[in-house]
Amino acid sequence: MKDIDYSSWADYIIDLIDLYQIKNPKVLEVGAGLGQISSFLKEKIPSYIVSDVSVEMIKFCPDKLSRVTCDMTSLPFKKEFDIIFSIFDSVNYLTTPDLFVDFLSECKRILVEDGIVTFDVSLEKNSIKNIKRLNRKGKYGGVYYNQKSTYDKKSRLHKNILELEIDEVKFIETHEQMIYEFEEYFIIVEDAGLRVIDCFDCFSFDDASRKSERVQFVLGKL
Ligand SMILES: C[S@@+](CC[C@H](N)C(=O)[O-])C[C@H]1O[C@@H](n2cnc3c(N)ncnc32)[C@H](O)[C@@H]1O
Repeated sequence: MKDIDYSSWADYIIDLIDLYQIKNPKVLEVGAGLGQISSFLKEKIPSYIVSDVSVEMIKFCPDKLSRVTCDMTSLPFKKEFDIIFSIFDSVNYLTTPDLFVDFLSECKRILVEDGIVTFDVSLEKNSIKNIKRLNRKGKYGGVYYNQKSTYDKKSRLHKNILELEIDEVKFIETHEQMIYEFEEYFIIVEDAGLRVIDCFDCFSFDDASRKSERVQFVLGKL
């Protein structure tokens, strides 16, 4: 929420795009939420579609962008994207390996041959480190929120119960995220028929490890 520096996060995404030398990319963002990063990226990426499964979230994305409500495990597009990305552990919402494989298979279907899929995932160290901070309430961008957060080491489920008030309408949402083991991602990627090009400690270009808090995967076709 307000403590996330989306401007710097956008710079990191641009650095990633530059690293793989993808010129004038057609870009799809999945799990875009309220679209905070798109506000910083939209001037730098002329061909940019934002998407999220929640219409209540996506309606807050900048209206100059193409906005699509869709589930990342079933994408309503044809093969056309150079870059498919997601930020802020949206992909951890895929709570079974099968769902994750479905997501990556869809990416593979709509990705051009030398395109990339890049997303960050949250690892257990991040859940444990931040659990206290994630129990919080406040107001951001006209939205009141009250967040309760738990992490269960056995099931590896991180739950966030969010009470939101938007335009005087109250919503209660339970968000469940699966905190997969670092090594599990490599199996999931292989099962989807993609390959790991790079795996960075997030916000850097250093190699990640199972001890990282947040990991940036960069995937390509085989
Ligand atoms: C933690 S929020 C992050 C939002 C945004 N990426 C950001 O950084 O502000 C996770 C988002 O993922 C979306 N989401 C969860 N499951 C999804 C799915 N299966 N397909 C598409 N979006 C999904 C949620 O609606 C939510 O907006």
